[in-house]
Amino acid sequence: MSIDAPVRLGDWDTLLRLAREDDQVLVGAGLQERSGGDLVDRYAPLLLAGRTGVVAQLGQSLDGCIATASGDSHFVTGEADREHLHRLRALVDAVVVGPGTVRTDDPQLTVRAVEGPNPVRVVLDPRGTLLDRGVLRDPVTVHLVGEQARSPRTVLKTLRERGLRRILVEGGGATVSDWVAAGLVDRLYLTVAPLVVGRGGRRGISLPDVEPLTDCLRPPARRHLLGDDVCFELDLRA
Ligand SMILES: NC(=O)c1ccc[n+]([C@@H]2O[C@H](COP(=O)([O-])OP(=O)(O)OC[C@H]3O[C@@H](n4cnc5c(N)ncnc54)[C@H](OP(=O)(O)O)[C@@H]3O)[C@@H](O)[C@H]2O)c1
Repeated sequence: MSIDAPVRLGDWDTLLRLAREDDQVLVGAGLQERSGGDLVDRYAPLLLAGRTGVVAQLGQSLDGCIATASGDSHFVTGEADREHLHRLRALVDAVVVGPGTVRTDDPQLTVRAVEGPNPVRVVLDPRGTLLDRGVLRDPVTVHLVGEQARSPRTVLKTLRERGLRRILVEGGGATVSDWVAAGLVDRLYLTVAPLVVGRGGRRGISLPDVEPLTDCLRPPARRHLLGDDVCFELDLRA
């Protein structure tokens, strides 16, 4: 079924409820009950992957950029991808962003484009220089500084200890790449917009070189049409 078909609200309410369930049999049954819905089709693999997964996302241009050279990223992808991003936020316990993103955007990281709960915001700040950002004024925001923020594995352990289970790494490119390279990301949503940013643009995914081409990362993928954009859902656990 096309994902551009009208969304039935009941589907989304059910998905939000199922997102909090631990029992995969129950989740599977709930999804089956709702089978045929566009949102069910799009988010079922995420829910079935379990409550403790790590997902990541980036919205990029045709030439692989997530922002211009100056850091302007408003907006690379369109409205449908913004909704998708807010849905991802609603389905996770915590959303993680890197220092470059907080410095440039001071993002709210809340769920506004759809109904749903706000995740805990987690800001990585290895140099400890981000004190003036609005997102840090929320006492619930987890601000990880210095060594605590340097290694994705340490960050993930800290979040788990705080009871934060399903995690979204939202950007920027360097942070998502670090988490992918560390082997911690189960599912990566990469939305490509028909836009060319240019040579100086900020890179999205950037991983260590691999030779030959046949050994490069080519995970199983699903494609979702999001307005003019194409979202690749990559199963990095396969
Ligand atoms: N299109 C999208 O989906 C999307 C999503 C999120 C963000 N963005 C855009 O992506 C850009 C940021 O991405 P990014 O890859 O550059 O960064 P990032 O992943 O958010 O953060 C990592 C970068 O921040 C630097 N850094 C470390 N500590 C810092 C500190 N205390 N203050 C400031 N910077 C610090 C690091 O530089 P060193 O290596 O030198 O330490 C590293 O390059 C922004 O322009 C943002 O608007 C786009």
